[in-house]
Amino acid sequence: MPTPRKVAVVTGAARGLGRAISQRLAEDDIDIAVWDLNLEGAEETAKMVAEMGVKTVACKVDTSSAADIAAAVQKTHDALGKVSILVNNAALSPFCKFEELTEEAWDSLMAINLKGPFLCTKAVIEDMKEAGWGRIVNISSSSAQTGASSMAHYAASKGGVIGFTKALALEYATRGITVNNVPPNFINTEGLREAPVDVEAFAQNSAPMKRTGKPRNIAAAVAFLASDDADYITGHTLGVNGGRYCN
Ligand SMILES: NC(=O)c1ccc[n+]([C@@H]2O[C@H](COP(=O)([O-])OP(=O)(O)OC[C@H]3O[C@@H](n4cnc5c(N)ncnc54)[C@H](O)[C@@H]3O)[C@@H](O)[C@H]2O)c1
Repeated sequence: MPTPRKVAVVTGAARGLGRAISQRLAEDDIDIAVWDLNLEGAEETAKMVAEMGVKTVACKVDTSSAADIAAAVQKTHDALGKVSILVNNAALSPFCKFEELTEEAWDSLMAINLKGPFLCTKAVIEDMKEAGWGRIVNISSSSAQTGASSMAHYAASKGGVIGFTKALALEYATRGITVNNVPPNFINTEGLREAPVDVEAFAQNSAPMKRTGKPRNIAAAVAFLASDDADYITGHTLGVNGGRYCN
């Protein structure tokens, strides 16, 4: 029996880190399901990845919606087969002063940034259990490690992702499924460039390397954690942050 091909779901992969992660996993000959709210961008990523020689499918999905996720899992199964790798990357990174932060804004960010990874993981964990092999890589944030002014809801959601990672890692430790997280800092993406700060100037002042990082730096860390070689690493936080937070 030929070994089944690995299939990765990458959420939020219409641009930025999700796109770079999709491309990097495709370099490792992994088939890619590109999930994003933005279907046009997801299709563009899928096309780029298909040109690298792997199979791919693009799905329009809001990762805070269990119904959207169920439909995307079905489409992914039909096109590529069972899911072996999940990269929970989709998130919003808004700034809001604490006193202006409303209950609605808090709840809606938690639904995307924290409930989203929970729902996506729930939807594919059976595939991994059946295979006795799985990799879950959650993209958290250095903001949860250092704190971040005007980002209380964001930092709390990403702190939740780190706790979620550790708890799941222990629960699935004997099942061949590893669960790790990568907290980025100052990686030059469309999302970062939309932040209401001069990112390069901010990096010059506060980053030890005095520069931003590249999406490929995150993608390489994810590819390592998703590899067979990383099968004794679980519950880990692999910071890719140019030395901004050392642990
Ligand atoms: N770039 C950085 O420096 C940095 C730093 C810390 C953490 N992060 C984290 O890295 C991840 C990716 O960041 P990025 O800079 O590439 O962001 P980005 O804004 O460039 O891309 C995010 C993608 O997620 C999608 N998305 C948003 N909400 C969604 C939803 N509900 N359902 C499906 N898709 C959704 C967007 O359409 C977009 O394509 C995020 O989790 C972010 O919090 C990034």
